[in-house]
Amino acid sequence: DLSATIGNETFHHPFVNAAGVCDETAQEMQSVLDSAAGGLTTKSATLAPRAGNPQPRYFDTDLGSINSMGLPNQGLAYYLDFIANSTTAKPIDLSVTGTKPADQVAALQQIQASDFTGLCELNLSCPNVVGKPQIGYDLDATRAILDQVFAFYEKPLGVKLPPYFDLQQYDAMAAILNQYPLTYINAINSVGNGLVIDPNTETVVIKPKGGFGGIGGQYIKPVALANVRAFRQRLRPEIKIIGTGGVTTGTDAFELILCGADIVELGTVVMQEGVSAFTRITHELETLMQEKGYQTLADFRGHLKTQ
Ligand code: DHB
Repeated sequence: DLSATIGNETFHHPFVNAAGVCDETAQEMQSVLDSAAGGLTTKSATLAPRAGNPQPRYFDTDLGSINSMGLPNQGLAYYLDFIANSTTAKPIDLSVTGTKPADQVAALQQIQASDFTGLCELNLSCPNVVGKPQIGYDLDATRAILDQVFAFYEKPLGVKLPPYFDLQQYDAMAAILNQYPLTYINAINSVGNGLVIDPNTETVVIKPKGGFGGIGGQYIKPVALANVRAFRQRLRPEIKIIGTGGVTTGTDAFELILCGADIVELGTVVMQEGVSAFTRITHELETLMQEKGYQTLADFRGHLKTQ
């Protein structure tokens, strides 16, 4: 039994696509729902459709990826419509964002007013909109947007966080998050504003922002493990955690769950391998659990040992 629950939703398998991966169009979203994934996350929707940044804006490396997509998406109404017309039994998590906080609040007002009752993920950590800092790195801005949102929003809500790198940042952010009726946090978004270059041509590999972009894949797994562990040690136990960042194998997923993740999202690995990665990684986790004698995720979730 690999099931897990977040809010009112049951995920029969613990793997979901990370927002922004195979989830912009109806066809892509349906391919995730038709795979071994336990659920679907949508591309982070903005109020109006966006074309995103100029190409090339995504690049694969041996150890991961860099991207500066710039929020290309079909607009919030498209994703609400897809969900309303979907017959899937799997949970669909509606990711939402905006290029300024007022737009994020307005998007959540539309979702509150809609018939949608599922999980929603407020993205506080897009690193790729030119001139816009990540809200999750600004404590006052995070508090301000959550105050505004929870003044009216009554459906299950999670937040997607950027990676933190200092123990004091975890203390400060967890103290804020614990004050709100959050259903979950998702840690981590890409490691923002890295740089990948081609030494042969002496050139950056993506066009936007002079080549700076969000790093995903194997490079970032230790950062994801640390963030999930640190937040699990600090958040109220009712706030669940989606673990995301660099998972490429079933063992990686096992490690994130040991740190406290309730379910696990797959990003770069699905970009590189396609939705068959859900099947492979699910089997790898099942095999590892059998070898260790674990029957459910709860048998080891959060049980990381220290020396
Ligand atoms: C984009 C990238 C992100 O890491 C994110 O959280 C949201 C959007 C993007 O560039 O589209």
